Amino acid sequence: MTEPQHEDRPHLPGPSLYPIAFAAGVACILVGLIVNPKLIAPIGAVIAILFGFLWARDATMEYRGTPEPIEPEVREAPPTTQQPAIPANQGEAAMPEPEPGERFPRSKFLEASTLGLGAVIGGLVTVPAVGFMVIPAFKGQGYPEVDLGPLENFTEGKWFVTSFFLHPEAGEVSRRTAYIRNNGQLQGQPSFTIISNRCAHLGCPVQPNGPVQDDQQKLVKGDKGQRITMTPTIPAGGFGCPCHGGQYDPEGNRTSGPPVRGLDRYDYAIKNGHLILGTPYSVTKVKGEGKDARIHKYKLAGPGQHVDGWEQIMYPIQPPH
Ligand code: FES
Repeated sequence: MTEPQHEDRPHLPGPSLYPIAFAAGVACILVGLIVNPKLIAPIGAVIAILFGFLWARDATMEYRGTPEPIEPEVREAPPTTQQPAIPANQGEAAMPEPEPGERFPRSKFLEASTLGLGAVIGGLVTVPAVGFMVIPAFKGQGYPEVDLGPLENFTEGKWFVTSFFLHPEAGEVSRRTAYIRNNGQLQGQPSFTIISNRCAHLGCPVQPNGPVQDDQQKLVKGDKGQRITMTPTIPAGGFGCPCHGGQYDPEGNRTSGPPVRGLDRYDYAIKNGHLILGTPYSVTKVKGEGKDARIHKYKLAGPGQHVDGWEQIMYPIQPPH
């Protein structure tokens, strides 16, 4: 008795580089979200979408193409007295073989729909969870403008320990302190030095190396009613950090101790006669003083991070602040 035997048809696509390119695109998106969300992340998205599409097209080629009718190969069974061979799938609910020329056999449909359903369920579970984890880290990370009050409050040539709220609605957790000095006029515009009190070592609040005139403290109302305190100080010896002894000169240059760079500074603007605090930035060193200062300015970095020299390669990715 002769038994028809069918050739195994391939169920998997051949090897392809598309999955690797797709994974590279996803990695590019994740890195881009941290390093450069406006350029690298979109490039990664384009790569991931392009190669994801090519990968999916490659993987589903078998389902979409018209298969050649498969002629059953008939072989003569060797004469034997043994019992006929038991088919491997005996006892299982075997799928009926596709009719010659049948484009979407039931087995293929079930296989594809099972995989598709799994992908949809996986996506429904994973995407929202990842979104809730990742998106908040990239929202509302910008620095708001803070109205520090009229320029007249800042006596020319004097330093003020100025305490304000970045987000008044968030309360005390958003309180920040900066050392502000009115440098007078520069090319017809008021000039200010605004130095952050965050130590460039590990972030402790630096203190003025000189008297703080608490008895002359002023309370100023910001444009949104937030409280701003201004306390005159004379940091003749610069600034010092109480945590590990980091020392800075009055322009914020590191002079000794473990800090890796100078104190950060804030941009500022003048609007309607008020001093408006802008975005903070990092500084390696400052040459000169006051309105004549030449500032080596960098994108804001975290405490302890080098922003220049060979050490900067140790900090290629900086999380949002
Ligand atoms: S945190 Fe300022 S010296 Fe360490």
